[in-house]
Formats: sequence, C-alpha cells, structure tokens
Amino acid sequence: MQTIRGRLTVWYSAALVLTLAAFAMVLYVARRRASYDDLDQRIRSEAELTAAILGESYRARGALVTYDSTGKPALVADIKAVLEAVPDYLLITAQDGEILYSSSSASLTYQQVVQLRKLTPPPLSGRTAGTVRLEPDGPELRYVAHIVSGAGPRFGSLLVAADVRTAELAVAQLLSTLLLIVPIGLIAAILVGSWIARRALEPVDRIISEVREITDGRSLHRRLAEPMVKDELGRLAETLNQMMTRLERSFAALRRFTADASHELKTPLTVLRSGVERAITTPGLSQDTLATLEETLQEIKRMTELVEALLTLARADEGIAPLHREPVDLRAILEEARETGDLLAEQAGVQMELATPPEPVIVPVDASRIRQLILNLVTNAVKYTPSGGSVRMQLGQSDGRVTLTVADTGIGIAAGDLPHIFDRFWRADSARTRTGERPGAGLGLAICKWIAEAHGGTIEVQSRPGRGTTFTVTLPKEAAG
Ligand SMILES: Nc1ncnc2c1ncn2[C@@H]1O[C@H](COP(=O)(O)OP(=O)(O)OP(=O)(O)O)[C@@H](O)[C@H]1O
Ligand SMILES: [Mg+2]
Repeated sequence: MQTIRGRLTVWYSAALVLTLAAFAMVLYVARRRASYDDLDQRIRSEAELTAAILGESYRARGALVTYDSTGKPALVADIKAVLEAVPDYLLITAQDGEILYSSSSASLTYQQVVQLRKLTPPPLSGRTAGTVRLEPDGPELRYVAHIVSGAGPRFGSLLVAADVRTAELAVAQLLSTLLLIVPIGLIAAILVGSWIARRALEPVDRIISEVREITDGRSLHRRLAEPMVKDELGRLAETLNQMMTRLERSFAALRRFTADASHELKTPLTVLRSGVERAITTPGLSQDTLATLEETLQEIKRMTELVEALLTLARADEGIAPLHREPVDLRAILEEARETGDLLAEQAGVQMELATPPEPVIVPVDASRIRQLILNLVTNAVKYTPSGGSVRMQLGQSDGRVTLTVADTGIGIAAGDLPHIFDRFWRADSARTRTGERPGAGLGLAICKWIAEAHGGTIEVQSRPGRGTTFTVTLPKEAAG
C-alpha cells in the first residue's frame, strides 16, 4: 500500500468488518438462545395445559381411561380428540409405564416411542427436561416431562417434545440475513472509507504539488496557500512557509555576500592590473622580472574574469541583472565573435567556420549578454579542441525561433558528465587535471544557461567523447512578457 489513503481505507474497512462480525455473532448467539427458550417455554405450557385438561376432565366426569377388548388401557376418545390439538409431540403414560396416549402427528417408530417413554420420570420425582436424539436416525428433540397428578390413580406422567429444528429454522433465517448484510456493509465501508480518506488528504496532495513547484533558490519567494482552519494540515503549511522564509533569507544573505565580495574585489584588481601593466613598460627590466610580471598579469586577468563571472551570477540570482533588450541582427554579433574566435583558434591551431543566413536575423536581445554567451561557447569549443580540429558556428531561424549552434570536433564530454556541465564551478576531470593547459573556473556554461533562459530560450548540449560537442541555443524571436 503506497498511499496513506489506501492504508486508511484498509484499516477502516477491517475495523468495520470486525465490528460487524462481532455484532453478527452476538446477535446470532442471543437469537439462538432466545429461540430455544421460546421452544422450552412452549412445550412447558403445552405440558401444563395438558395436565390441566386432564385434571379438569377427571373432576368433571371421573375416570378417563378405558380398556379395550384385549384389556389394554387407553384414553377416552373425546379427551384424545381434544389432545390432538396440541401441536407438538405428546406422550401420556400410565403408572405402570403403559402408553395411554401418543400424538399421531409425529410419525415415530415404536422403538423411538419406547425411547421417549424411558425419559418420563419415575413416580413421585416431579419433572425432568432436556434434549434427546431419537435412535436410529431420528430427530433431535427438546422435551419436558412431569407426573400427572389430580387426574385419577391410573395416570403416571406426560411428556411433551418438539423438534429442535423449529428453533434452528428461526435463527437460520437471521443468519442468511446477516450473511447478506456483512458483504454489503464491507463494500459500503470501502467506498465511504476511501472517499473520506481522499477528502481528508486532498490538502496534502495540494501541498505536495505546491512544494514541488519550488524547485530552486529563485522560486523560494513562493508560499503555500494556508487554509483558514488551523488544523494539522494548516499548521503544516504554516511551518513549511516559515521554513521557506528562513531559507529565502539565508539564500539572499549568501547571494548578497557573493555579490558584495566580488564587487569589493573589483577595484583592488583594477588597481593591481594597471600597476603591473605600468611596471611591465618600465625600461631596463631583466628577463626574469619581465616573465614574472607577465605571469602576474595573466593571473590578475583570470581573477578579474572570475570575479566578473561571480558578480554576474550573483546579480542574476538577486534578480538585479536586467536585460537591455533592443532589436539587433544576430549575424553582426556572430561576425564579431568570429573575429575574437579567429584569434584564439589561430593560436590553438583550430579552424574556425561561420555559417549565417543571407537575410538579417533581427531579434530583441541584450546584445552584450548574447555576445558573452557566444564567446563563452566559442572559447570552450576552441579550448577543448586539439589542434587540427575545427569549430563551426551556425545561425538559423524557423517559425518564431532562432537557433544558434557552436559545434566542435574536440575531446567531447562523457555521457555521465552531461547533466553537470551547466553547474557552477563544475569542470570535467580531464579539464581539472590540466588546468595549466585549459584554465577556467567552471562558471562559463552556468552564465550561458542563465543568459539563454533570461531571454526565454534554452541551451542544449550533444556530445560524443573523442568526436566533438555541439551546443544549441534556441531563442524566441519575440520577447515574451
Ligand atoms: N566544447 C566542449 N568540449 C568539451 N568539454 C566541454 C566543452 N564545453 C565545456 N566543456 C566541459 O564543461 C566544463 C564546464 O564548462 P565551463 O565553460 O562552465 O567551464 P570552464 O570552461 O572550465 O571554465 P570558465 O568557462 O569558467 O573559464 C568544462 O570544464 C569542460 O570540462
Ligand atoms: Mg568555459
């Protein structure tokens, strides 16, 4: 069960089924007991009624027993007729055990009647009651038997018996009703349970999707909708919001720090640079000093670039790096970048190509940012292509979009590295190990990604190690928003 909703429904239904089952069991047992009590009550009153009829009749007319021609005693005919009305089995015996009357309704064998007769109590012992199974294969009977007094000297005892099935029949009906109700109850419980769980958990799903939308530091200003009711979920949303406020503050502090630090570093770097540049031009310097100064100047240049890059990203994060858009012909920017690229390519022994469409490609962009983007890509392409290779820039346009590709035949990027190349300060191991040969901080592509996305575009990469890499930047022709 992956969801709380599923688990809740299962627990809820299980609890309900257990309750229903316990209730059904208690009801069944109670009903069965009551049914047997009713049966006992009925045969007891039938026995009392029979005794009363016999007593009354004896008082009114004397002897109730006649003898047939063989000398066998039997009840007089009209009393017999009255006793036929007793619905259950009735057996009346004489004091000597002779059977005076046996209901004709129950079709019992002689053997079974004899078995019943043995149950009647011996004279003077009062009353007995119980359950008996008639042999062979007879029904199970509840019976009550007691002495008949006040109906003349001949009478011994009487016994009334009823088939227990009549009691079982009443409960069997109840049982079938219960068997029908329990599954219906179960289905209803599952439906209602899952509905209740869904209703209750809906806000959780909403919170999940809202939190999911807060993907990075830039969407941290968003807050979850807090429900009016301050229940558990309301408090959860509130707590998450407070957490996001704290996160947003720390993110902001971090960005501020980066921006301030890079900004503060800019001035001393400029001073350093102009100092070293002036020192280099001093006449009469030894070769060693000159070399050292050259190296220092290189380092200062790299550091200035790094600080610039950091400042750009920190400003972009803070949202205070506005784009100065104006319609420009991208072909012109590419031509410019090609000139710079040519210089780099020449040093590296790499061939440089540029393919642009004959018609102007006018797009409203921030020209200096786009120039920076293209230069970053071209610098990378030249930097990661061994001499003898080539770099090809291409510009194209199709239905509302402009596509700009920078393809090289260089060392390529391993498939496992591709997801990371746009991360800040990320550099492939091959690049890291040869920092001297391919210097860099790992910020170039992070800046490219920001520039492309700030223009409402995308940047994608395709690469095969050893074969080359192609970066594709797509920009919309109309400035969105
Ligand atoms: N054209 C390319 N061919 C092969 N690998 C590349 C290419 N472009 C980028 N990479 C890999 O991606 C990493 C990140 O590139 P990115 O431009 O962000 O950093 P960098 O060039 O190392 O340093 P920086 O651009 O900050 O001076 C590089 O270190 C390199 O490993
Ligand atoms: Mg780079």
